[in-house]
Amino acid sequence: MDIKGCVAIVSGANRGIGEAFVRVLMQEGAARVYAGARDAASAAHLEQEFPDRVQAIRLDVSDPSTIAAAAVACPDVSVVVNNAGA
Ligand SMILES: NC(=O)c1ccc[n+]([C@@H]2O[C@H](COP(=O)([O-])OP(=O)(O)OC[C@H]3O[C@@H](n4cnc5c(N)ncnc54)[C@H](OP(=O)(O)O)[C@@H]3O)[C@@H](O)[C@H]2O)c1
Repeated sequence: MDIKGCVAIVSGANRGIGEAFVRVLMQEGAARVYAGARDAASAAHLEQEFPDRVQAIRLDVSDPSTIAAAAVACPDVSVVVNNAGA
């Protein structure tokens, strides 16, 4: 998988392993990462850490309406990391 220059989305990106995925994607040269979280504000620290490259979005993987909205809001994604869970 070619990470450099890719556009990715990570679910459950606000903390834990999902947050680590965002950091690794940044380190490996991803152009942009959408940081999905049930509460987008909880991923705001990643937007601040990686200005212009990380965008927090609302995404609850148990709520089809937020999945559909994310698909519309993030049309350029080529890498999906479906990490959210317990
Ligand atoms: N840690 C391990 O040793 C381990 C081992 C094997 C597999 N995993 C898997 O790896 C993933 C992450 O584990 P973790 O240790 O980082 O867990 P964690 O620290 O408990 O974090 C869980 C993450 O998933 C999010 N989340 C939970 N339900 C969600 C939903 N319906 N929609 C969107 N986001 C949701 C949480 O968001 P909130 O902040 O909103 O709760 C949080 O960001 C999980 O799928 C887990 O099953 C972990």
